[in-house]
Amino acid sequence: MSSLFVVSLVLDNLTKHFGTVTALDGISFSVKPGEVFGFLGGNGAGKTTTMRIVLDILRADSGSVTWNGQPTAEAPRATWGYLPEERGLYPRMGVLDQLVFLGDLYKLSRKEAARRAKDWLERFQIADYAKRRAEELSKGNQQKIQFIAAVLHEPPVLLMDEPFVGLDPVNVALLKEAFLEMKGRGATIVFSTHQMEMVEELCESVVLIDRGKVVLGGPVREVRRSTGRQVIRLAIDGDTELAWLADVPGVRVVRPGQDYAELDVEQSVDPETVLRAALDRGKRVTQFLIDDPSIEEIFIEKVGRKPTEELHLVGTGAASGGPGAPAGSGAGAGAGTGASTGTGAPA
Ligand SMILES: Nc1ncnc2c1ncn2[C@@H]1O[C@H](COP(=O)(O)OP(=O)(O)O)[C@@H](O)[C@H]1O
Ligand SMILES: [Mg+2]
Repeated sequence: MSSLFVVSLVLDNLTKHFGTVTALDGISFSVKPGEVFGFLGGNGAGKTTTMRIVLDILRADSGSVTWNGQPTAEAPRATWGYLPEERGLYPRMGVLDQLVFLGDLYKLSRKEAARRAKDWLERFQIADYAKRRAEELSKGNQQKIQFIAAVLHEPPVLLMDEPFVGLDPVNVALLKEAFLEMKGRGATIVFSTHQMEMVEELCESVVLIDRGKVVLGGPVREVRRSTGRQVIRLAIDGDTELAWLADVPGVRVVRPGQDYAELDVEQSVDPETVLRAALDRGKRVTQFLIDDPSIEEIFIEKVGRKPTEELHLVGTGAASGGPGAPAGSGAGAGAGTGASTGTGAPA
């Protein structure tokens, strides 16, 4: 089969400056059709700017974005379902009324728009709010309405900017289900997040950006394996301190915890030495798991800070010495960039 031409979203070498701030510094990656794709980066990394450029809300200084081989600026508007970061409904308009109104913009009949909207409201457990004004709803429920507004016309591509922010666990679960359903219908879903716990569960592929540059990317499994390191999740009955581990060479607790601790093991060390050392000390091991590092750990390793920590760009090239530089990040930020080759390159 000749499949040289794969339908996908391709971002090629995007740059964008705001005054002296370099928001995007050569962003390239591609998203395969039908995949759930995680667009990762801390605050200020450049996620929202990138999405706005994809949607042609904002113009890049250079670089290009294509969908299906065509510049995205020329793609029909109905191609996209967009959940913007700054949410906004018509506050005084009824929930169902505004969904029908928005459907009309995509040439859906009133009847069809209402049918789809009611279906979604039902599924999101807010059918009772159909006649309420948007402003009467909680923030979480408003966010669900906005999600419905973005998907009502059943777009082939969803671009969701931090869709999980501000949702309680029940709503997070509902939204995840909705994602999987849209995927089941063949949609390509790109969502940005700085909440790494979403990623492993939902995404097939990711790209991680920092300071407007791609740090790493690819299928989640490959990214997790790419470090060549393994981690151990260990729980011992009545011992959360794990002080004895100090005597086991090449092993380090990276995340202590009441439930289990996460240990980093040097490549030369057989993870089973840890299990043996524990048993030799007469410990009762309730959990022992050898695994690839989590996306969150890899993020911290590559970027040099937690995804939730704020980054302030202070003009071109000044970031490393500027007030926004996180403690101990000097090595991390530099070390990561070498690993970014081949990121998200289309097959
Ligand atoms: N309209 C704008 N004017 C000036 N600076 C901007 C503007 N939009 C974004 N920036 C800056 O560009 C960088 C990237 O921002 P953004 O794309 O919003 O990041 P993210 O969505 O990953 O948090 C930040 O330093 C931000 O302050
Ligand atoms: Mg943003």
